[in-house]
Parts: sequence; structure tokens; C-alpha cells
Amino acid sequence: MQRLTNKRILLGVTGSIAAYKSAELIRRLRDEGAEVQVIMTRGAEAFITALTLQAVSGHPVHLHLMDTEAEAGMGHIELARWADAILIAPTSADFMARLAQGRADDLLTAVCLAGDVPLALAPAMNNRMWRDRATQDNAKKLVGRGILLFGPDSGDQACGETGPGRMREVDLLVNDLVDMFDVGSLAGKTVLITAGPTREPIDPVRFISNHSSGKMGYAIAEAAVEAGARVILVSGPTALPVPDRVELVNVETANQMLDAVQSHMPVDLFIATAAVADYRPVQVSENKIKKQDNIMALALEKNPDILAETKAQFPGVFTIGFAAETNDLETYARNKLMNKGVEMIAANWVGSAAGENDGTFGSDNNALQLFWQDGEIELPMASKSKLARSLLAHIVPHFEDYQAKGLPKANNVVNLKDPGKPIA
Ligand code: C5P
Repeated sequence: MQRLTNKRILLGVTGSIAAYKSAELIRRLRDEGAEVQVIMTRGAEAFITALTLQAVSGHPVHLHLMDTEAEAGMGHIELARWADAILIAPTSADFMARLAQGRADDLLTAVCLAGDVPLALAPAMNNRMWRDRATQDNAKKLVGRGILLFGPDSGDQACGETGPGRMREVDLLVNDLVDMFDVGSLAGKTVLITAGPTREPIDPVRFISNHSSGKMGYAIAEAAVEAGARVILVSGPTALPVPDRVELVNVETANQMLDAVQSHMPVDLFIATAAVADYRPVQVSENKIKKQDNIMALALEKNPDILAETKAQFPGVFTIGFAAETNDLETYARNKLMNKGVEMIAANWVGSAAGENDGTFGSDNNALQLFWQDGEIELPMASKSKLARSLLAHIVPHFEDYQAKGLPKANNVVNLKDPGKPIA
């Protein structure tokens, strides 16, 4: 399980022989799902090259405070805002002293001052330097300001002496960092969400579509990121900004949506909020269709049911469908639960039945009724972002139960050739 999914770690590297371990630390943090950017001090450059750390982090390394080019790209304030946590490993005695004084005369000290996120230091120095009164005073001062100290550990040192001052082992530093964050209810899980409408072309300038704004799906994507998941959002055309830390896959047609969904399967959780067009024109005219008779017929063919087909092919994926209904909400929702073979259906009223607050089309609010095989719950009207969080809070226990039990029984899976008949 990746324990740092979606987390942005700013790694400071200062002048200590332990800087050679920073490359391995970056690799381990990325293995845990973190995004890592690196700031090196001048002292660090004497021990390891920026090129090495750039290669392992996948980002250009930040070096200097007064570099106009760098400040125009990602300046010190922006770097401080970007990070969820700052870890300085190794932290030299000199860097601890400068931090304790509150200096801001290089990029790393400036970012530490500007940052409003947890800051942790992994000291690494000769044991006498660590024991020295000045360093101990600095350490106390820094801890008093809420800065965390990871280590140092005791043992053999690069200088040939033995004692406290070794940088903590990389695996332990990763664990320390994980402990700094609250682990979300979906940490280490991958969630795929479909959202928005699809567009089915008629000719080069026209298409069939619907009023879906995509807001509910995007709100669920944001809530899943908050819960620590890796989130893939397969979206039809919407006017919404790309949610932070979400892997967005843009599609237009139902067939493209099906391909995009299936190319990412299997995932842990699949939530289909998209308002997929049920039909598409049999033929897409190469040229713009000219008006002719008073009545024009457009031949349509059925689109694939992305939800049902994906669930049938990947029965182990915990799957949630949506149902927007104008009448008989519960009956239709329960039918969908069965016919599509999914674990849960989130249903809402649309049209005049939705009352004043039509929850589906472009509104910022919605209410849902969540159905599963032997239960249901009502999630009252709330902003879509609040509702998305509450929806996930209700989904997660079912999902955990499902994962604990293993694969579903085959007769829960819809038989696409003959939907009435269970797969033997
Ligand atoms: O069958 P109906 O369109 O009412 O079902 C709605 C649910 O099925 C939604 O979760 C929607 O995203 C999904 N769906 C789909 N592919 C379709 C039609 C609906 O994934 N072609």
C-alpha cells in the first residue's frame, strides 16, 4: 500500500556526507506515492549533484534564492505553498544554526520561514558537533517552535568515530514522515470516476448531448483525493477546472469513455456519475448536414453501458452507479442495482420531482438516496462537495467489507448476452 499518495514533500538537502542517501530517500518517498521537489543548499552541492536528485525526483532541483529564472517559474513563496510537508535530510549543524536564527539568506531557509506546513529535520553530523552546547541549544530552540527532529541515530560515522549524529535510516525517515499525516480512509486505493455528459457527433458541427455539468463527479473526485486515494477522473466535456491532484482523462463520446475506463481497470473503486448518452447517430456525416424537408429522421444506435460492461469484466472492482429519476426512484434504483450487477446505486430526483432545487443540472446542491442489496440511506440536501464527502463516508465501510470478503459470487454479475440470466 502506498502511504503517501497525493502528498507533496519538499526535501531540503544540506551539506553533510549523508547527502548521498538523499537520492535513495527520494526514490522511497516516490514509491510511497509522494511527489517530491528538492532544494539543495550550496553546501549540499559539494556532496551530491543536482542532476542526480533531478533524475530521481523527476523535477528540476531548486538551488538559489536570487535566481530570476527560477523565481519566475516556482519562486520561494510558491514552493512553500506547494508543499504538504518539508523534510530536511540531511540537516547539517550549520543549517540548524541558521534556521534557529531565523535567517532567510538562501532558498531553503527562506522557504522554511515562508512555509506554513509541518517541518522536520533529520540531523546528520559528527557526534561531537551534535553534542556541542551550541547545537543542543539550537535543537531545543527548534523543537520549541514545533519543528520535528527525526533522529539523529547513534552508530559508526563517516569520519571513523562512533556516537550520536548518524542520519536516521531512509526507511525509518519514510515511516516518520507517514506518521506526520493522518492516513485517509482511502489511502493507497485507486478510485476511477466518470463524470459529465458525453457528446455523440451528428456531423462536424453538431452533436447529441445532455445538461450534465459534471459537478457531482468532480466533487467526488476531490473528496476521494482528500481521503488519500489516487484518483482517475474520466470526464466528458465540462466547464469545470481540473481538480488538484486528480489524473484527468478527457473524452467526448461514450465509446471513448468506455475505452478510457477499461484501459485503467482494474482499480479498487469505480464510481460512475457520468450522464452517458444512451444512443449515438448510426452515421456521422462527413460534411455539415443541410436542411431539407420539414421532418428529418436521425437513425440512432445504442451506446455501450460503461458501468454494466466494466463491472461484468472486472467483477472484483467495488462499483457504484448513479440514477437520476423523475419518478419511481426506489424501484428504478433497485432495478439498476440488480441489472447492472453493481454494489451500490446513488439515486436522485430530477425534473419537477426534484422540487425547487433540481440537484442534477448545474446546481451546486444535491440530495441522494444510497441503495445497496440489503439497505438504503438518505443523504439530505447539501452542497455537492459536502454531499460527496458524506457519500464516500457511507461507501467506505461497504467497500472495506467487500474487500475483506474477496470476490463477489458469480451470480451477482450481470450476463451481458442475456441480462435476465445469471452467469453460471
Ligand atoms: O441506465 P442508466 O443510464 O439509467 O444508468 C445510470 C448509471 O449508469 C450511471 O451510473 C451512469 O454513469 C451509468 N451509465 C453508463 N453507461 C451508459 C449509461 C449509463 O456507464 N451507457
